[in-house]
This record gives sequence, structure tokens and C-alpha cells, in this order.
Amino acid sequence: MFPWLLLALSVCTRPGTAVSPTVPPRHMDSVLDILDALESPARGGSLGTAAALWRELGVCSTPGCRAVLGETPGTPERPPALTLGQWQLLTELLRHDPVTPELGVVLAPDGSTLALGPLLAGIEAGLRSGGFGRPLPTLDPPVDPLLAVTIAEALGTSFLLAGGGDNNATALGPGGCWDDAENPQNYTLRGPPSPVPDPVAIGAMDGVVLGARLARGPLPVVELIQGYYGTGNGSEAGRPPSSYRRRDFGALAGQGRLEKEVAAVLGLLRTLSPTPEFLRDVGAQEVAAVAHRAAREFSERYVECPTIMPRCLWGAQPYRGTPALLRPPLASVFLHHTLEPSQPCRTFGACARAMRDMQSFHQDTRGWDDIGYSFVVGSDGYLYEGRGWHWVGAHTKGYNTQGFGIGIVGDFTATLPDPDTLALVRDELLPCAVRSGHIWPNFTLRGHRQLRHTDCPGNALFQEIQSWPGFQGTPVALGLG
Ligand SMILES: *[C@@H]1O[C@H](CO)[C@@H](O)[C@H](O)[C@H]1NC(C)=O
Ligand SMILES: *[C@@H]1O[C@H](CO)[C@@H](O)[C@H](O)[C@H]1NC(C)=O
Ligand SMILES: *[C@@H]1O[C@H](CO)[C@@H](O)[C@H](O)[C@H]1NC(C)=O
Ligand SMILES: *[C@@H]1O[C@H](CO)[C@@H](O)[C@H](O)[C@H]1NC(C)=O
Repeated sequence: MFPWLLLALSVCTRPGTAVSPTVPPRHMDSVLDILDALESPARGGSLGTAAALWRELGVCSTPGCRAVLGETPGTPERPPALTLGQWQLLTELLRHDPVTPELGVVLAPDGSTLALGPLLAGIEAGLRSGGFGRPLPTLDPPVDPLLAVTIAEALGTSFLLAGGGDNNATALGPGGCWDDAENPQNYTLRGPPSPVPDPVAIGAMDGVVLGARLARGPLPVVELIQGYYGTGNGSEAGRPPSSYRRRDFGALAGQGRLEKEVAAVLGLLRTLSPTPEFLRDVGAQEVAAVAHRAAREFSERYVECPTIMPRCLWGAQPYRGTPALLRPPLASVFLHHTLEPSQPCRTFGACARAMRDMQSFHQDTRGWDDIGYSFVVGSDGYLYEGRGWHWVGAHTKGYNTQGFGIGIVGDFTATLPDPDTLALVRDELLPCAVRSGHIWPNFTLRGHRQLRHTDCPGNALFQEIQSWPGFQGTPVALGLG
């Protein structure tokens, strides 16, 4: 072909690409702006037209979900209320492509990364069971519409696909990292994707929590989502409700309930014509076993253990030098307060900044390889990964190979962390560390001051932890380690 012809063709067949639209960041705020524009009555929109559009764009494309929420005829077109850039973002986020589930995710103000598809499907199921819009069909076998469209079909499908064949595929995870938490554009998973990577699980849990709220009575959806994730600017009095998603989801869908719903949705899929490929030649016993395993593994991974914000998300600098590996299970946990920052951090932004400041102090001023703590506890409802489960920390001199060092952000000489932050460590992190084999069931918990000449973790906090399981009153002879 002649070069000039090629040039002419490429110019003529791709009109409009000369000026590429400014695509907003993959942040929940961008999505809320879009939903706000779509719902605005002043521009001829409504929640119903917004929901019809998200369905046309790909929310709820799987057979089980379509059986529950119904089919959506129609070809999506850009509503005049959206800019070209907003339209591009929305179509990319909602296009259902099972091979690249990570393309449908956004970063929320609380630091969570979640898939938009299951969140919106849950919102639609909730609205419709609450009486808004078309009534939901009666299905045989009966399924819970909210759990079916958010998590149950995804879990059943994923575990059936992973269990069948001999490819040893995993059915859950992994998590991933954003290129830039301030201006998120590109999210990359840390390993090979399962059909339910972490952001799909989180989006589904949030879809269940918000859908259940909407089923009790209508609320403006944009305000509901905004209130749920918080604004992230630190003006809120407490933690955003999203930071309680594990507790709230667990209350709505405990392991037994989840197991029953996974089995029910697989039963529903079997009645469809054509029966999905992965269900052919699968017996009732195998379905029951898959539902059991799916519910157990999901609950262990996402409900029973607290969220740990990975290093990449708070903007950690690399470890300097060569890290030494711990040999779990360890015998001890050492509790610290950070003293500096002296104020508890209550938002993802503030906690991430505290992590970066402490890391740079430990690396540049103290000359250590990395931030000293194994984990740091924010008052935003989340834990932050320091050296993590695998690397020896620099928190309790002489004892760093024997235990994990947990630092709570703040100065707890005279005041305590709020009760939920204490509970996050005492009732969630410690039992989870035992269950996952990182510490012995007979672990000992000590305050830093029992091992070094220091006031850490502060008088008030030290007093508090003396009633915690595992607390060991007797000081260890100094200088042993
Ligand atoms: C599959 O998993 C089993 C048990 O976890 C392991 O022994 C086996 O080597 C794995 N096979 C492949 C192909 O990875
Ligand atoms: C996103 O990040 C991955 C991994 O860092 C990279 O390979 C890919 O090119 C990036 N994509 C875009 C669109 O920047
Ligand atoms: C925080 O966000 C809310 C809602 O977006 C806004 O009304 C408020 O002015 C913000 N506060 C600060 C201190 O930026
Ligand atoms: C804790 O349990 C482990 C494993 O059962 C055992 O080896 C260890 O001696 C116990 N430690 C104490 C202090 O009892």
C-alpha cells in the first residue's frame, strides 16, 4: 500500500481522535459527579435513566444477574449531560470483561479500591426490592436478589472454575496498586487475576451494605454513596461507614447464609437455557461442596481479618538494604504509640501522610532500612503495612525477631485511642494473626516500656492493654535478645 493512502485512511477513519478528551481520574468523586449529572432533573435525568444507562453499559451482564434483574434492551448513547471524558471513563469502568476485572475499579476517599459493577448492581437490587422501579421477578429456586447480583453468583462461578480441571487456579484475589493515589489512572493487580480480585469482593460487599439500606426505604443515591465513603478531607467526626464494611457485611451475610445463597444461585444457573458450560456434568454434591468452600474462604479472607493498606497505597519508599525474614509463628506482639504524629489520623489521606513522614524519619534521620513498625493502626478504621508479616522490624530493640511491633498513631499518655480503634487491634488483628499462623495461640502481648527504658506506649494505653488477652505482666529481663 502507498504510504500516502495509509495516512489518508488513518486520518479519515478515526475522526475525533485529534483532540482526546480529558478523562477524569478513576476516583469515586469522578463517578459521583457523573451520577449527579445523570440524575439531575434539571437536565432531564433521573435515577431511573441513570440505572438504565449503567445496565446498558455492562453492569449485571452475567446470566444469573440478568435472570434476577431482567434484560436491558437498548444501545448506550452518551447523554448530553456528560462530557466526552466522563463518557469515556464511565464506559471503561462499566464494560464487563471477565479477563480484565481490574479495569472496572475506582479509588474511594477512604482508600478502598472497589469494582463499580457489583456496587451498582447491589444498589439497583436494593432500590427495586424497596419498591422503586420494576418489581423483581419471583425465581425458582428462590434466591436473595441482593446477594445473587453482588457476590453469590461471582463466588459460585469462580470456585467452580477454579476447582474444575487441574490448573490450580485461585478463586479469590489478589489486590493491587494504583499508579498515583492522588490522581489514580492505572490500577495493576499484584498477580494473576482470579474472577474475584480484591476490588470485586470489596465492591460486592459495599453493594450488599448499600443495597440493604436502600431496600428499607429510598434515599438519594449520590448522597448515600458520598456519606458512606466520607469526603476524605478530615472534616468528619468519626470513621466513614465504609470502614465498617466487614462488620456490616458479616451481619447481613454470615458464612452460613452466604453458603446457602451460593448454592441457590448455582441452582438457578442450572435452570437457565443454555446451562452455563461450567455447570454441565456438575452434581448436586459438588455444588454443595463448592458453596461451602466459597463461603468459608470468602469469610476468612474478607470478613474475619481486618483490612491492611499495602505499602504501595500509602506511597512507601523502597526498603533500603536487604530485609531479614521472620520465622512465623512468632511468640510475641509489642504495642507502641507513635508519639509523633501525636494526633490520631482519621482519614486515609492523613494516615498515609503519617506513614510517609514516619518512614522518612526512620530512614533518613534514624538511618534505619525502613519504617520500624510491622503494622501501624490508624483511627480511620484501617491498618497500614509497615514491614509486614514477613520482614524483621525495628521496633523493640533486642526483640525484633521475636515479635511483631504494632504502632497506634497518636500520643496515648493521657488519652486513649477511640474504642473502635482499640477493638480493631484487640478483637480483629490479634485473633486474625493467630488464625493465619503468624503468631502462636499462646502469644504474649507487651507494651514497649516492658522491654526498653521508654514511656511508650503511653500511660493511658499501657493501662488499657493490661486487660487484653495475652498481656504478660512480668517484664522480660532487659538485654536478652
Ligand atoms: C496444585 O496444588 C497442589 C496442592 O496445593 C500442589 O501439590 C500441586 O503441585 C499444584 N499443581 C500445579 C500444577 O501447580
Ligand atoms: C499501567 O501499569 C502497568 C504496570 O505498571 C503498565 O504495564 C501499563 O502500561 C500501564 N498502563 C497505562 C495505560 O498507563
Ligand atoms: C470537606 O468536604 C465537604 C463535602 O465535600 C465540604 O462541604 C467541606 O467544606 C470540606 N471541608 C474542608 C475542610 O475542606
Ligand atoms: C506456645 O506454644 C508453642 C506451640 O504449641 C510451644 O512450642 C511454646 O513452648 C509455647 N510457649 C509458651 C511460652 O508456653
